[in-house]
Amino acid sequence: MVKAVVLGAAGGIGQPLALLLKANPLVTELGLYDIVNTPGVAADLSHIATPAKVEGYLPPDDGLKKVLTGADVVVIPAGVPRKPGMTRDDLFKINAGIVRDLATGIATAAPKAFVLVISNPVNSTVPIVAEVFKKHNVFDPKRLFGVTTLDVVRASTFVSEILNDLGLSKDIVVPVVGGHSGVTIVPLLSQSSHTLPSSLSTAQYDTLVNRIQFGGDEVVKAKDGAGSATLSMAYAGAEFAGKILRALKGEKGIIAPSYVSLLADTEGAAVLTKELGETVQFFSTPIELGTEGVVKINPLGKITEAEQTLIKAAIPELLKNIQTGVEFIAGAKTEEPRL
Ligand SMILES: NC(=O)c1ccc[n+]([C@@H]2O[C@H](COP(=O)([O-])OP(=O)(O)OC[C@H]3O[C@@H](n4cnc5c(N)ncnc54)[C@H](O)[C@@H]3O)[C@@H](O)[C@H]2O)c1
Repeated sequence: MVKAVVLGAAGGIGQPLALLLKANPLVTELGLYDIVNTPGVAADLSHIATPAKVEGYLPPDDGLKKVLTGADVVVIPAGVPRKPGMTRDDLFKINAGIVRDLATGIATAAPKAFVLVISNPVNSTVPIVAEVFKKHNVFDPKRLFGVTTLDVVRASTFVSEILNDLGLSKDIVVPVVGGHSGVTIVPLLSQSSHTLPSSLSTAQYDTLVNRIQFGGDEVVKAKDGAGSATLSMAYAGAEFAGKILRALKGEKGIIAPSYVSLLADTEGAAVLTKELGETVQFFSTPIELGTEGVVKINPLGKITEAEQTLIKAAIPELLKNIQTGVEFIAGAKTEEPRL
C-alpha cells in the first residue's frame, strides 16, 4: 500500500501531476490538497480505472492533517508561478511562506514521508523545508528532494533535437547538476549517453547550455502571462515520483538527479565537496535511491574545462539561494533569489 499526496493539487502542475500519479499502478491511495477545487479534481480522477483511491481535501476541518495522515510520498507544487511583471522577490516571499506552512503540516502529520519539492525557487524552498523539519526534530536528509527532473527532461529533448531525432529523446541521459535556476543548472553534456556531433561549434554548445539553463523562460514567454511550465513539469514530476515509488517498493540501483542535502550521504558528499572545491549544503547530482531514500550521492566524475567553468559560476549563486531559504526560517532578512 502506498499513499501519495499532492499539495497544490488543483493547480496547473498539480492537476496533470495528480492524473499521472493516478495512472501509476504503484499508488494505492492518492490524497489531493489545495486551497481550492480539490473535491472536484478528486471526483473527476476517481472515475479512472486504476488502483488508487482518490480523496480531495481543502483547508477547513483539518484538511491538511487529514490528507497527510499515512502519506508515504508528498509532492509539493503549491504556490505561485512566474508571471511577467512579478518581481522575483515577490514570488519568493509568497512561495516561501506557502512552503513553510505546508512543511510544518508534514513535520507534524507525516514526518516519515518522502518529500518532493517542486515549488520555486527550489534552490531556496528545499532549505526552507529542511529548516522547518529541523525545528520539529524530524529532519531526515535522505527523505527530502528538490525536483530538478525538468532540467534533465529538457536536456534529453534538446540534445535529441540537435541529433535530429526526437525518437531518441526518451533514451538520452544527460546528468544535470548544481541547482534548479538559471546559471545554477549545469548540464554535463560531456557525459551524455548519446555523443553530440563533433561538428558542434563552441557557439552552438553555449546556445545548448543556455537553452537548458533558461528553458523555463521560453515557456513563460510563450504563455504570455498565463504562467510557467505546467505540463512538462507534471511529466517530469511524475517521472521522478515514479522512481521514488519504485525505490520504496524495493527496486535497487535507481539513479536520478535531485537537489538534496549533502548530509544525506556524508561519504558521497565528501568526494563531491572535494570535486567542487567548496562546501555547499545542498546540491543536485545523480543520486541512488533505496527504500530509505538517498542511498548514495554520486560524484560529478570526469568533466570538461567548460563544465568546470559552469560549476564555478553556479556555486556563488547557489550558496546565496540556500542562505536565503535558511534565513527566511531563521526570521532574518531575506535576499532576492534568482529563478
Ligand atoms: N521545479 C520545477 O521545475 C518547476 C517548474 C515549473 C513551475 N514550478 C513551480 O511550481 C509552482 C506551481 O506552479 P503552477 O504553474 O502549478 O501554479 P498554479 O498557480 O497553476 O498552481 C498552484 C496551486 O497552488 C495552490 N496553492 C496556493 N497556496 C496554497 C497553499 N497554501 N496550500 C495548498 N495549495 C496552495 C493554488 O491554489 C494553485 O492551485 C510554482 O512555484 C512554480 O514556480 C516549478
